[in-house]
Parts: sequence; C-alpha cells; structure tokens
Amino acid sequence: MMNRLQGKVAIVTGGGAGIGEAICKKFANEGAAVVVCGFPEDPVQEVAQEIVKAGGRAVAFAGDISKQEEAEACVKRAVKEFGQLDILINNAGVFPATATIDEYPVEAFQYMVKNNIYSCFMMTRAAIPQLHKTRGNIVSAGSEAGWMGIAENTPYGGTKAFIHAFMKGVATEQAKEGVRANCVCPGPVDTAWTHKETGPMSAKMEKQIVEGTPMGRRGTPEEVANVYLFLASDEASFVTGALYFVDGGVTNSKGPHGSEVPSKLKQEPEGELDLRHDMDGHAEIRKQDQWKHLG
Ligand SMILES: NC(=O)c1ccc[n+]([C@@H]2O[C@H](COP(=O)([O-])OP(=O)(O)OC[C@H]3O[C@@H](n4cnc5c(N)ncnc54)[C@H](O)[C@@H]3O)[C@@H](O)[C@H]2O)c1
Repeated sequence: MMNRLQGKVAIVTGGGAGIGEAICKKFANEGAAVVVCGFPEDPVQEVAQEIVKAGGRAVAFAGDISKQEEAEACVKRAVKEFGQLDILINNAGVFPATATIDEYPVEAFQYMVKNNIYSCFMMTRAAIPQLHKTRGNIVSAGSEAGWMGIAENTPYGGTKAFIHAFMKGVATEQAKEGVRANCVCPGPVDTAWTHKETGPMSAKMEKQIVEGTPMGRRGTPEEVANVYLFLASDEASFVTGALYFVDGGVTNSKGPHGSEVPSKLKQEPEGELDLRHDMDGHAEIRKQDQWKHLG
C-alpha cells in the first residue's frame, strides 16, 4: 500500500464493475476509505469486502444514484461511515445500444440520459456541500465518444459531451470554494462494453475500435484508474476543468494505425490490482428500471 490518498474519503459510483472496481481498489491501496456505489445487483458488496480483506477501508452503497434521494443517501453514508467526503468519482454509466440514429431505440436514449447524465448531476449536487468542507474534488467519466463523432454511437457520445461541459462549468464555478473538477476520458477499455459477446458492439465495431486506436489494443481498467488517482490526489492541485484522455491515442489520430502494431506490443500490461469484476458490467436495460418520464 502507498499513501497518495492517505486520510481521504472517496465515493466511486459504478464501483462494483469494470473501471469502477479498479478505481475503488487503486484508491484503497493508496490509503483512501472508499464507498463502493452501484445498483443493488452489482457486486458492490463483493468489491468492498475484497478491499477490506486486503487491509483497506471500504463500505458498499447499493442504490440508484440517478435519483435525488438515493444520491443524497450515498453522500450521507460516506460522511456517516468515514466522517467526511474528499473525492467524488462519477464513474457510473450505461451503454445499452448501438444503431444509426434513425433506428436508435428511444428507450436506450432515455436510459442513458438517466444513468449517465442524471447520475452525474445528482451526485455532484449532493456532494458539493461536503466537498466545500474538505476542499475536495470531483473526477467524472467522460469519453472519446464525447469528443469525436462515432457512428452508431451518437446518443451515448452526447451524454458524455454533457459530462465534459458540466465538469468544466463546475470547475469554474467551484474554484472559489477550493473544489476542483475534471474528467477522465477513456478510449476503448477492456470491460464488458467493448466485447461483442457482452456488450452492444457488433464484430465490425469491435474490430474498428481496436484498429482505430494507434496502440492497437484496449486499455485496461487499471490503466484508466491510474489517471483517476492522479487527478483525485493533491498532486493535481493546479488541475481543474481538464479533460484527460486515456485512449491509446485514438482521439489524436486518423485511420487504422492499430493494425500496424506488432502483436507483442498489443499485450495489455498485467497491472498490480486484484481485479475480479472487470467483466461484470452493465450493458443492458435493467428490467426494473424502465424510465418513461421523457417518452
Ligand atoms: N469501457 C469503455 O470502453 C469506456 C470508454 C469510455 C468511457 N467509459 C466510461 O467509463 C465508465 C465505466 O465504464 P465501464 O466499461 O467500466 O462500465 P461497467 O458497466 O463495467 O460499470 C459501470 C457500472 O455503473 C453502474 N451504474 C450505472 N448506472 C448507475 C446508477 N444510476 N446507479 C448506480 N450504479 C450505476 C452499472 O451498474 C455498472 O456496474 C462509464 O461512465 C463509461 O461511460 C467506458
């Protein structure tokens, strides 16, 4: 264990799977007490228990943080358990469909507005009063898709572009309170979302996202968590309103450069975290969560 977040308390939304699990475990290794937040069916209890077993501090919060009262309850839980809140990681998100816009399911769009946009807004709103007390910070999950035009993925990209703009606004507005706000914007990451067997991508799209990335591979959840760690830590004390791309170069390039990378350089680094839920992500619309407000 190291101590880049010693004495800090963090909430990680979407902490039970994929990139979120890696953020939780990375932060705990660095001395933070972590609230592992996710839907009740996500393995949030497991991740919290694995952290505690490894000698860290963590509790699970099971709820839907796109709802105001559950977002507020999540923040209250952090303060009740650990006395304060220093870091909010808005990592929760969903990716339920790919299709051209004329065929994009309206329900999938509404589902992303709810879980990508409302979650980020509700948690940020609920956390800010606590972050004022600690001069804390927020890091939210943006995306390459919120920056570039990605075919058959346009509504998802729109929800991520909201988060980019929202964090920039929060950064400007909250600087006078000593609160920083930034985004980590991943390219393709090795979670359930980017495999045709477990997410909404076709075989063609899966091939394109890897070949279109100059490094010729997906990133690992831990590689993304490393950048969350930097931004959430005091090392980033002069960084606010920034979009940090963790994307193997995809937003910087044009064409299938990834296909030129020799296979030995396409190997993902092993990392040091004990990750068990990287493929336990959420790529379908939950049956209990049909959202009709905008319909
Ligand atoms: N995987 C990628 O290639 C990629 C690329 C760019 C950006 N991102 C972003 O990174 C984040 C994590 O992606 P991932 O691939 O690890 O996904 P994932 O599905 O593995 O994990 C996301 C978790 O968030 C939870 N969640 C979603 N809405 C929630 C809500 N309202 N309340 C509580 N929990 C909720 C899900 O149930 C899931 O457990 C997302 O915000 C995504 O947009 C991912």
